[in-house]
Amino acid sequence: MKITKPINFALVALAGFTFACGGGEKTSESTSSSPSVAAPAAAPEQNISLEEKYKDDPIYIKGLAKLKTSDCTSCHMVERKIVGPSYADVAAKYETTDENIAMLADKVINGGVGVWGEIPMPPHVGLSEEDATDMVKYVLLLKK
Ligand code: HEC
Repeated sequence: MKITKPINFALVALAGFTFACGGGEKTSESTSSSPSVAAPAAAPEQNISLEEKYKDDPIYIKGLAKLKTSDCTSCHMVERKIVGPSYADVAAKYETTDENIAMLADKVINGGVGVWGEIPMPPHVGLSEEDATDMVKYVLLLKK
């Protein structure tokens, strides 16, 4: 129940976007900011938010539920940098390997600084390794 709200919002945003582009789809496509557009088959995917793309994945559901029990959302958003990097940026930086998952889970528990800038991430010592691992798997899932 709880996760339906942001998804509804994403759908509304998506609908608004489609509507806004309705008048001149040619122009908006040709002025696309990305110079290296991937295969045409991938194009429809680009308008889908990462939340929408992965919402049915068990890793997504489990990780998000755990993230919501902690303070992560006060510093991290899925596709926008706030205090900490966006999850999408983290997912783009690291391959989803056991090694990276363990390293990042360790960083969430113990805190750290210097990879994304001068602002430190505080430690989360109350977090179990299992919970931190599930959270990191969720973060790394959010690849575009
Ligand atoms: C007070 C703000 C804050 C909170 C709360 C916070 N983070 Fe962060 N997080 C940051 C900052 C700042 C960085 C960048 C640290 C750096 O540059 O090394 C970061 C980095 C990360 C990274 C990437 C680490 C790396 O080495 O690339 C992950 C993954 C992450 N956070 C997950 C989480 C999770 C999961 C939670 C909740 C348990 C959480 N964060 C809570 C601020 C926060």
